[in-house]
Amino acid sequence: MKEIIQKDFEIYFGSEVLEKLAEILINKEYSKIFVLVDNNTKIHCWPILSPYLVNVQLIEIEAGESHKNLQNAEKIWTKLQHYKADKHAVIINLGGGVISDLGGFVAATYKRGIDFINIPTTLLGMVDASIGGKLGIDLHAFKNAVGVIKNPKYIFIDPIFLNTLSAAEKRNGLAEVCKHALIDDKSLFEKLQLTENKETLDTLLFHSIKIKVKIVKKDPFEKDLRKTLNFGHTIGHAIETYSLKNDSNPLKHGEAIAIGMICEAYISVAIQGLANNELKKISQYFIDRFPKYKGKLPAQELIEYMRNDKKNEEGFINFTLLKKIGKAKINCHCHDELIAKSLDYYQHL
Ligand code: GLY
Repeated sequence: MKEIIQKDFEIYFGSEVLEKLAEILINKEYSKIFVLVDNNTKIHCWPILSPYLVNVQLIEIEAGESHKNLQNAEKIWTKLQHYKADKHAVIINLGGGVISDLGGFVAATYKRGIDFINIPTTLLGMVDASIGGKLGIDLHAFKNAVGVIKNPKYIFIDPIFLNTLSAAEKRNGLAEVCKHALIDDKSLFEKLQLTENKETLDTLLFHSIKIKVKIVKKDPFEKDLRKTLNFGHTIGHAIETYSLKNDSNPLKHGEAIAIGMICEAYISVAIQGLANNELKKISQYFIDRFPKYKGKLPAQELIEYMRNDKKNEEGFINFTLLKKIGKAKINCHCHDELIAKSLDYYQHL
């Protein structure tokens, strides 16, 4: 088992982490233990976790981003109240980003804050959503419009849960693993290019997690360094929103971000001097692993979405770009024409 111990949270990674969880729960003597699941993790992941827990109350919501809302937050607060949860209760979030964002938000606000623990069950959750304390719910169409930043007490990452995922779901998380490499660590990108086998994949996951922890530790409130995590997300989020509106089978977050990273690497060549051969390597990495988007990517409409992005400041569309693989530059701007050209570049790959 590997561990990362910080002042306000601890991460345990490996195949014995659920034993560690059981040991910690016995020592902490929580007054009540709640486990938040969705209808998928209840079937596929709860049977793996339940042998390690006693006397827990399960709370279930429907799976999917559309359920990360105020109605479900209220439903969970009401259940906590119904079961007389006091300040010494704990919520264990068993699931992907929706579960950890929502369950964490509910825990951080119930009785002004009770402990919560994340057990991410998706690759995206393991390397990104469960770490860094961004919690919240969507408000109407606005993603993460209401929320707080508070770290879980513990994060237990057991790669066994990856066996419950489809190839598409694994790909979804792989985009963020690769993003961590592109913004911070060229050696990780080189290993990712070569590796597919499971043992090495676990090591690469841990490497990626360490990058995320390093960044959020230095800049928890996204004043500067944490913005590097937005690489690929300005164009990627716009594509994700567009696809959600227009496609019957919309792109997953990671698939949209992969396209965003190709386009933003293209812009990085013009604005930050990223070398052309590095752009080629980045493009090839994603083209080889992610399905090519078949629909049109209309520049003007996408740019309109980008103008509404909450990352923008002083009226400019805000980008994080690459100077080279492993080195990011925050708060960059560019002309609309270059954004349109980058979309064109992707579509002609
Ligand atoms: N997912 C980006 C961040 O945690 O800042």
